[in-house]
Amino acid sequence: MNKPRHFLTLFEYSAKELIDLLVLADDLKSRFKKGKEDNSLKGKILAMVFEKSSTRTRVSFEAAMLQLGGHAINITTTESQLGRGETYEDTARVLSRYCQGIMLRTFSQANLEKMAEASSVPVINGLTDLFHPVQVMADLQTILEVKKTLKGLKVTYVGDGNNLANTWINAAIVLGFDLNVSCPPGYKPSGALLKQFGKTHDNVQLVEDPIEAVKSTDVIYTDTWFSMGQKEDEKKRQLFSPYQVNREMLSHAADDVMVLHCLPAHRDEEITSEVLDGPHSYVWEEAENRLHIQKAILKTLMG
Ligand code: CP
Ligand code: NVA
Repeated sequence: MNKPRHFLTLFEYSAKELIDLLVLADDLKSRFKKGKEDNSLKGKILAMVFEKSSTRTRVSFEAAMLQLGGHAINITTTESQLGRGETYEDTARVLSRYCQGIMLRTFSQANLEKMAEASSVPVINGLTDLFHPVQVMADLQTILEVKKTLKGLKVTYVGDGNNLANTWINAAIVLGFDLNVSCPPGYKPSGALLKQFGKTHDNVQLVEDPIEAVKSTDVIYTDTWFSMGQKEDEKKRQLFSPYQVNREMLSHAADDVMVLHCLPAHRDEEITSEVLDGPHSYVWEEAENRLHIQKAILKTLMG
């Protein structure tokens, strides 16, 4: 079996490859806005396997496939044999016989790796507990639209040291922009991630104090304090309260700071409605870009 190219983490891609995808997404977006048709995935089918809820990932992947002339099939754990214990490997073997690509949203990264290992078609990470690479690609596209370059840019991730924090660390290591990661004690991303290649990366800093972290930053990024599969608890909420993205926090950042959030937002918890709906927020553009970067990834892997 020829090994296909997957999209499991940003680490598997070089800076040039990631930039090429971002440039392609931008180009696809402007052609789409001009009403130009693109049927480059005509006759191709993407299997979308969801073991967790989704609005943006599900709809943007399906819309992307349809707009590229292809088709997408939605599969959930409860309605498929995965929920009754059929293995990821066997599921991948079978889906590979029907479809030209598989997107999986699951819990452990190991589930995704098992699927990729047995699949003869490209497998795309649609979110795991560890990473959410297609999201951060849409985030980077949004930053580039506004700031034009990643050179000299400082991005600050504030909040839970979760799959988004980890993926931002991936992105900063591969692309080289400055990243501050500010999380409460006990909720930091694993230091092992920073040392993945056997060295620390000076452009990635863990700064516990959120106000210190956002000083003069160009981008503030946050995400829910309670990811899918986690129990909400009042103690954690209290501990995280200084990490809320609000007007006071923004006053310490650059004057033209961009605020991003992968969504869904828990309004007035990790971010105030005032900021989410305010002039620094680019979250709707960010959500829209999921469609365009998805197309770039699908065309590159399945075209
Ligand atoms: N940001 C994101 O992945 O949204 P969904 O969970 O709605 O897919
Ligand atoms: N960290 C969140 C992201 C949702 C898109 C989660 O995993 O639930």
